[in-house]
Amino acid sequence: MPAEPLRILLLEDTDSDAELVQRALRRGELAFDLRRVETEAAFTRELHAWNPEVVLADYRLPTFDGLAALEIVRLSDAGLPFIFVSGTLGDEKAVEVLKLGATDYVLKDRLSRLVPAIQRALSEYEQRAARRRIEAQLERTRRLDSLGRVAGTIAHEVNNVLMSIQMVMEPLRAAPDPGMAERVADQITLAVRRAQRVTTEVARFTTPVSPEVSVVDLKNWIETFAGEIRAFLGEKILLEVQVPPDAMNVNVDIRQIEQVVTNLASNARDAMDDGGQVRLDLRGVTQEGRRYAEITLTDTGSGVPPDVHARLFEPLFTTKRTGTGLGLAVSHQMVVAHGGLIYAESEPGVGTQFHVLLPMV
Ligand SMILES: Nc1ncnc2c1ncn2[C@@H]1O[C@H](COP(=O)(O)OP(=O)(O)O)[C@@H](O)[C@H]1O
Ligand SMILES: [Mg+2]
Repeated sequence: MPAEPLRILLLEDTDSDAELVQRALRRGELAFDLRRVETEAAFTRELHAWNPEVVLADYRLPTFDGLAALEIVRLSDAGLPFIFVSGTLGDEKAVEVLKLGATDYVLKDRLSRLVPAIQRALSEYEQRAARRRIEAQLERTRRLDSLGRVAGTIAHEVNNVLMSIQMVMEPLRAAPDPGMAERVADQITLAVRRAQRVTTEVARFTTPVSPEVSVVDLKNWIETFAGEIRAFLGEKILLEVQVPPDAMNVNVDIRQIEQVVTNLASNARDAMDDGGQVRLDLRGVTQEGRRYAEITLTDTGSGVPPDVHARLFEPLFTTKRTGTGLGLAVSHQMVVAHGGLIYAESEPGVGTQFHVLLPMV
């Protein structure tokens, strides 16, 4: 247990009940500092300004209710221990509040359970936090590792470009006629453009992306965005779009999702030199008990051979003469930042299908 007194925020309107809760806490020999609130305004203020480590809440209050309080807490901290302390909470309600994210519930006539319930909730919370810290560390190591490799390749790429510019400098200086100078200038422009593409995409890749999220109905979004994709794909490629009958709400940075779909569409276009078909599907799926909105982009292009398939999302991996190999690496990073998944299926000669799964609200 921490040496500092435990900060407990109590949402309770009845004086006598608040007194009972405090007595139970004292009996449990818990060093604590308790603040009691009764209204939504006070609750929200204390939650953010005081940073309680545990929330205890009555289920029914005159002007505010426990479930609404739970929702407020869950929006700001998914794991903060939140325990209902209620006079009456039938079995059904109890199951429901746990499903809605409450950590536990204690009945007012069984307050001896309160301190053990708090202790269990805290130890689970600490374990989760420790796990998250370790995962974040691993992720940083992975990033540094791949950045090291990326830096080497960029140096190589940009160097190639500089060399090709240097090579045309001599003929340019000695240019006997304006036509020659013009050709050389064109070559330099191309080389510089290539270097710029590498550096802008790398900058985008290495700037940490923290999504600016809001709730978006993907069905609604895809119906408008499909127009942009259609224009982008050009006339040789036929775009078909399929959406579900109902709204599909996800919590996303929609600019980033647009970037991901654009990257996929751009690869599909590159894979279909002689034209073809692209299908954009949206549907709901369940994976490992979680609901996701799935965006699928299918092309009838060249497909991906197995050795390429293994390296698709690797930064700077490209099979194209003027590719940067960052489209899929950036897309992967963005989708993962949203708690989602991205993967590909492909049959060489038939086509490729990319799946993007985003957690539903
Ligand atoms: N739809 C697709 N069809 C065939 N190959 C693909 C497709 N999407 C990606 N690839 C392969 O994956 C590689 C990496 O893609 P990406 O990261 O977008 O970089 P780039 O497009 O610059 O090459 C491509 O060079 C290509 O070989
Ligand atoms: Mg690409």
